Amino acid sequence: MTIRLGLFDSGIGGLTVLRRILERHGAVPVTYLGDTARVPYGSRSPSEIRSIAAEVVAWLRAQKVSTVVMACNTTNALARDVTEGQAGVPVVGLIGAAAALVKESRVGVLATPATVASGAYRESIEALHPGTLVVQQACPDFVPLIESGDLRSDELREAAIRYLQPLLEASVDSVVLGCTHYPLLVPLLANLLPPHMRLIDPAVAVATQLDAFLGQPLPGSQNQPVSLEATHICVTKDAQGFAERATAWLGQRPCVDLVNLQP
Ligand code: DGL
Repeated sequence: MTIRLGLFDSGIGGLTVLRRILERHGAVPVTYLGDTARVPYGSRSPSEIRSIAAEVVAWLRAQKVSTVVMACNTTNALARDVTEGQAGVPVVGLIGAAAALVKESRVGVLATPATVASGAYRESIEALHPGTLVVQQACPDFVPLIESGDLRSDELREAAIRYLQPLLEASVDSVVLGCTHYPLLVPLLANLLPPHMRLIDPAVAVATQLDAFLGQPLPGSQNQPVSLEATHICVTKDAQGFAERATAWLGQRPCVDLVNLQP
């Protein structure tokens, strides 16, 4: 089977995973779906999230992807089994891989309300590192504010202060960015946290997991320019707005197609 990764997220967040993959593996063929018609996923019920995942994976399957990459923690937390059951190809997720990156004994997790309620991060971290204190914080305002495009807004800063407070009070030593949108906030979060506190981006672990499918990584490091020549980005709403919002993170304006997931 020809290699083609199928990545999906509710919106722009999965691009943080896409970029880490392209940095590590070069211009591998990728089909990316941002389900912008239904963002945010993280404030929806488990059954809605599961039926959305089923629909998205059916669409990716029709695109003949050879591996599905869940570039969305919320579906990873609530619909990994649905995805694996329907994909018909290997599925790579974020949460177990991120848990493996934890080294500290006091860990904060920032995630969507649905991911936090599922307890998936707590369970994965505690299973791999028994005795670790895991402090989870749901961040319902982050995704809508990030999708609105202004990463420097006062609302975003105020929300970040509010969400970090319980983690600071619990004296955690690292913070897992448990939603793929949140790496876009690293400059803001780093500014609000003490310098010793480590931010853990699960996307790094996903890119590493893909070595098993894509072979040895390229030499080099993060934040290299990436090539989108083999990447096909699709969204379910507002293709132009998405292209605009993706430009800063990808370092270039991508071509974005509008698609309908219904067959
Ligand atoms: N970026 C996704 C995640 O990692 C989904 C966020 C949302 O749509 O609420 O959870």
